[in-house]
Amino acid sequence: MSRTLGLIGSGMIGSALARLAVAAGLEVVLSNSRDPQTLAGLVADLGAHARAATPLEAARAGDLVVAAIPLNAYEDLPVEALSGKTVLDTANYYPERDGHRAELDNGELTSSALLQRHLAGSRVVKACNNITPHQLFSLARPAGAPDRSALPIAGDHADAKAEAARLLDLLGYDSVDIGTLATSWRSEPDTPVYIRPYLGEIPAMSVDAFLRWTSRTPGIPVPATRVAELAETAVRRPAGEARLPSDSPSPATR
Ligand SMILES: NC(=O)c1ccc[n+]([C@@H]2O[C@H](COP(=O)([O-])OP(=O)(O)OC[C@H]3O[C@@H](n4cnc5c(N)ncnc54)[C@H](OP(=O)(O)O)[C@@H]3O)[C@@H](O)[C@H]2O)c1
Repeated sequence: MSRTLGLIGSGMIGSALARLAVAAGLEVVLSNSRDPQTLAGLVADLGAHARAATPLEAARAGDLVVAAIPLNAYEDLPVEALSGKTVLDTANYYPERDGHRAELDNGELTSSALLQRHLAGSRVVKACNNITPHQLFSLARPAGAPDRSALPIAGDHADAKAEAARLLDLLGYDSVDIGTLATSWRSEPDTPVYIRPYLGEIPAMSVDAFLRWTSRTPGIPVPATRVAELAETAVRRPAGEARLPSDSPSPATR
């Protein structure tokens, strides 16, 4: 089992995963796009099992590494240091933030397949992209809990998906294999399994108000059977067209 989790990107999703990982007894190495010193507050909060480093150091240190960055930064990921490793990809494609990518717009590639092409020596698993940061933290439950939720995972390597599933289990989630990176669109923005099931009715509001609202909302457990059903009913639409009051570029957060 992974003992050290490397995090490239320590914003809303990365820090939620770091908190769960520390609570599960893992060591975490956090990084962002700036000096590691900028993560001092978060590291102090997380305690002795967390430290901050550069993305290169986090990639080297992690038995498993999470890329929790905007898609537009994927080319900055350290290819060589991540080679041979499983990389969890939490990213979603929002052209207004990430810029238009023809291969994504025309459906030739999913965003995670694009990442896999860049990280040719790594094993990319799409995970944790379909839940808001607060719910990712608040809905985590121990194995066997009756109200445990599940998250979809997708990837081209069975061993990497098994590794991702073991990590999610440790962090508090069941996982549902929804196929390869080519079929990972089934959990992309605006699909049935994306964000809403874990939140219920979402009041109409701005993106910033939405993020504040999610932080006051406990969330709704979504079991594995439901995640599987929802992913199965997804219909593919052009990538980047989704507009939900979450995980979309907001001047306040990005
Ligand atoms: N927020 C959501 O509801 C949600 C839900 C599911 C999935 N996602 C997806 O998960 C990813 C992360 O989302 P988030 O909400 O956590 O974003 P965020 O709060 O804006 O955090 C992004 C993190 O990535 C870091 N970063 C940016 N460019 C980098 C680079 N070139 N090298 C290293 N680190 C870099 C940022 O560092 P700096 O602070 O130094 O810039 C920051 O730590 C996105 O792709 C998003 O679409 C988000």
